[in-house]
Amino acid sequence: MQDARAIILAAGKGTRMRSDVPKVLHPIAGRPVIAYVLDIVRSLKTFVVVGHGSQKVRAALGDGLTYVVQDRLLGTADALRRVAPLFRGFRGHVLVLCGDTPLLEKQTVRRLLAEHRRSRADATVLTAHIHDPRGYGRIVRDVSGHIIAIREQKDASPREAQITEINVGAYCFQAQKIFDVLKRVKWNARKKEFYLTDAIEVLWTRGGRVGTVLAEDASSAFGINTRADLARAERVIRTRILRKLMLAGVTIVDPATTYVETGVRIGQDTVIYPCTVVHRDVTIGTNCRIGPFARLRPGTRVGDHVEIGNFTEVSRSRVGKNTFMKHFSFLGDATLGADVNIGAGTVTANFDGRAKNRTTISDGALIGSDAVLVAPVTVGKKAVVGAGSVVTRGKNIPAGAVAFGVPARIIKK
Ligand code: UD1
Ligand code: CA
Repeated sequence: MQDARAIILAAGKGTRMRSDVPKVLHPIAGRPVIAYVLDIVRSLKTFVVVGHGSQKVRAALGDGLTYVVQDRLLGTADALRRVAPLFRGFRGHVLVLCGDTPLLEKQTVRRLLAEHRRSRADATVLTAHIHDPRGYGRIVRDVSGHIIAIREQKDASPREAQITEINVGAYCFQAQKIFDVLKRVKWNARKKEFYLTDAIEVLWTRGGRVGTVLAEDASSAFGINTRADLARAERVIRTRILRKLMLAGVTIVDPATTYVETGVRIGQDTVIYPCTVVHRDVTIGTNCRIGPFARLRPGTRVGDHVEIGNFTEVSRSRVGKNTFMKHFSFLGDATLGADVNIGAGTVTANFDGRAKNRTTISDGALIGSDAVLVAPVTVGKKAVVGAGSVVTRGKNIPAGAVAFGVPARIIKK
């Protein structure tokens, strides 16, 4: 789509978050708020307007985006103006989104862009009907139903405040037209800002063509302003993730208490029991049983037909197929082969106070209840570690051997 570019507005301070972390970097289901907005525009050349905490935002989002700094936060119109010099000579369309609306869906934005192209409007505004429009810009229409202005909460007359059609904060513009119109947007003395939304009225009074697209899903409009909003967005995104997994053949026994972060892959016929947390960057095979009360942390890869039962944590570990770990155990920086049995209460002691060390447990090994494996250590194929043993650092157990005791000694080769 050579004829369209995207601008994401993300310079705002996010005062109501009461945080040292820039608002758009707060995580939802394992990813920053703004990452969800960036997903939508992945195919377009994208400019991000940064200001508050700009170094942190850049560091988190990396290269591949063009950053434009808005040094003084003078409002959304001013933010857009900062980008104008980079658009000289560009004759296409520009899609403008806010970095704090993570629930906006790709197909909705696609519809916005398609309608903007079809109608050849100068500006197309995404709108939504919501029950409680407080805080949002209201869509003001003339008698024939054409949009003539967007009125911000603070400037709305009592009558305008009744309007329940609101501005989502996603727009398409004819690029040169909007940058031209922005020069005429006046300073709003009450809010001490230049409003991007005022550009709509300026366009309309100068005979420009402005259209709207209605978002079917009102939650599209939901913007993050407080930590309570963050939790609400988390719930919506979590529901979307779980629904997708269920439609792909995963049983989620209780979606209300199951927390799966973005990008997790889970194979068909796997069952996730209640009160289970699966963090980002985790892959689970087919026909597994996970939980209840299991926590799988980033970097974990679980093969097929694996059971990871109650009160268990697995971090940065690989678990081979047909392996069982049914009760209260911790695996950290471990590599487990196939057909391994991890007894209740087994712990890999991966941290020596300075570094994380690896534990390897080979195919068919059996680790008895309450064993501690002090990493780095390797347990060979089909080896047995007796219940209550402590296998000390570097004391590898050869294949087929039986080890027992504190510290564990080989009692049978
Ligand atoms: C804005 C809209 C409002 C709409 C709502 C939807 C304006 C004036 N109002 O209000 O009509 O209903 O979004 O969520 O645009 N930003 C900058 N630089 C600035 C100020 C803001 O980059 O100087 C960025 C913010 O980081 C944010 C976005 O622009 O991502 C929107 O700003 P915000 O202050 O949150 O506007 P709202 O009051 O939510
Ligand atoms: Ca906002």
